[in-house]
Amino acid sequence: MYLFLLHQDCTIWLQKIIITFAKNKLNIMRIDILTALPEILESPLNESILKRAQEKKIVEIVIHNLRDYTTNKHRRVDDYAFSGGAGMVMEIEPVDRAIEFLKSERSYDEIIYTSPDGEQFDQPMANYYSTVKNIIILCGHYKGIDQRIRDHLITREISIGDYVLTGGELAAAVIADSIIRLIPGAISDETSALTDSFQDNLLAPPVYTRPAEYKGWKVPDILLSGNTKKIEEWKMQQAQERTKKLRPGLLEKQ
Ligand code: ADE
Repeated sequence: MYLFLLHQDCTIWLQKIIITFAKNKLNIMRIDILTALPEILESPLNESILKRAQEKKIVEIVIHNLRDYTTNKHRRVDDYAFSGGAGMVMEIEPVDRAIEFLKSERSYDEIIYTSPDGEQFDQPMANYYSTVKNIIILCGHYKGIDQRIRDHLITREISIGDYVLTGGELAAAVIADSIIRLIPGAISDETSALTDSFQDNLLAPPVYTRPAEYKGWKVPDILLSGNTKKIEEWKMQQAQERTKKLRPGLLEKQ
């Protein structure tokens, strides 16, 4: 379509607008994930909706093995902590080399480090990142990373909850998943991402499918009534009741 328009007798400025528009359309979101354990990320990011989003060129996810950015013979990415203490610490060099290489190819909106110390990830953050172009996620490491990475290379630290995982890979997968499903076209039902729990600080109402009755357990009559207005009212009332009962704190955020 764009090529067709360019063949028309249009002025230079109009051609420029068309090219910029086409470029924006083609410039898909890119998520680069840096990890010493790429295998952990392969499966969660290559199934179902995320797999299709990549096939449809809605997003490009590139997993980088930090060992590929090492200069030592053993491809080691961690070392003993100065001052001792249990556990190995991720070295700055492979991380810096990886980030420098990526930044030489394109600009990034955010360089995230997954860590239990970080800001708590939530739906508004996922909404925001679904609108940006390129992000890097550096997966945290068992006993932490050299502080200079956090001070000089990272732009935001994010936690997915107040508990400690063995590494940041699962956190990176959670963050990437929640962002990608919000990108237009990732989910076939355009409205469904907007009606998720948390989008308006309300939990989603219950849903049912056939059969209408199973072992005597019935689907609420209202859902079989065909009365769209009444069904919408019921859903809203259910969402409010569930939120009040299960997550009252969310109502205060409204
Ligand atoms: N790495 C270890 N625990 C984590 C958490 N809760 N969130 C993000 N990254 C982590």
